Amino acid sequence: MHRFSFRASFTEVVIVTAARQVGTPSAQSMQFAEAYAAEDIVLQTARNLALEVGLSSVTPGAGSVLALLAAAGNAKAVVEIGTGTGVSGVWLLRGMRPDGVLTTIDVENEHQRIARRIFQEAGFAPSRTRIITGRALDVLPRLADGVYDLVFVDSDATEFGACAEAALRLLRPGGILIVNGALAGGRISDPAARDADTITIRETVKAIREAEHWIPALIPAGAGLLAAVKC
Ligand SMILES: C[S@@+](CC[C@H](N)C(=O)[O-])C[C@H]1O[C@@H](n2cnc3c(N)ncnc32)[C@H](O)[C@@H]1O
Repeated sequence: MHRFSFRASFTEVVIVTAARQVGTPSAQSMQFAEAYAAEDIVLQTARNLALEVGLSSVTPGAGSVLALLAAAGNAKAVVEIGTGTGVSGVWLLRGMRPDGVLTTIDVENEHQRIARRIFQEAGFAPSRTRIITGRALDVLPRLADGVYDLVFVDSDATEFGACAEAALRLLRPGGILIVNGALAGGRISDPAARDADTITIRETVKAIREAEHWIPALIPAGAGLLAAVKC
């Protein structure tokens, strides 16, 4: 029997009821939660460089959740899909074990050139990062099965489902998948939103909730983090 078989029939009712009980967090509360995770000069620099090249980065609140989950999982081997300029990478490395290695993938060499400098400025030895340039779906099949503690996905939303599939193979039992952008910019709960990104994100979030091999939670930090432990 499915461990969470009760969920399929009652989930929508439970979500609506819970939302009514909890109420909507005010924008002020959300801002307080984001500001709680202070960023140092290295992270601020990486974030500004991202803006200069037209990239978004994980918010401080989302970054602190990445560090938290990496630390809670005592992560030694982490895969990041979407290096950007290194904001999320620094947060992950700060939560990982001191001997941990971050394997980070991005299709843009220029973004990774900036990230490499940021990792160095943050004090991480080059041996702490394995920076791979290429398309995620070309690189992921080359990574080993079942040896990673955490996989973080923050790249092309239309590939989130395929990246989550790949993560299932890469993670050890008890390893954690985290997908950024899981609230689809606020469009996930809007049935009228039918663009390709929103559809893929909606399908991925639903598939992970219904799969027996994941224990998921949707965390409303930053752009929304879908976190799931592989069981
Ligand atoms: C939102 S940015 C990542 C930001 C980064 N995680 C951070 O918070 O600092 C998305 C990155 O994914 C990369 N990207 C987009 N499509 C990709 C793909 N198919 N394979 C690998 N990287 C991809 C982009 O070049 C970009 O650097």
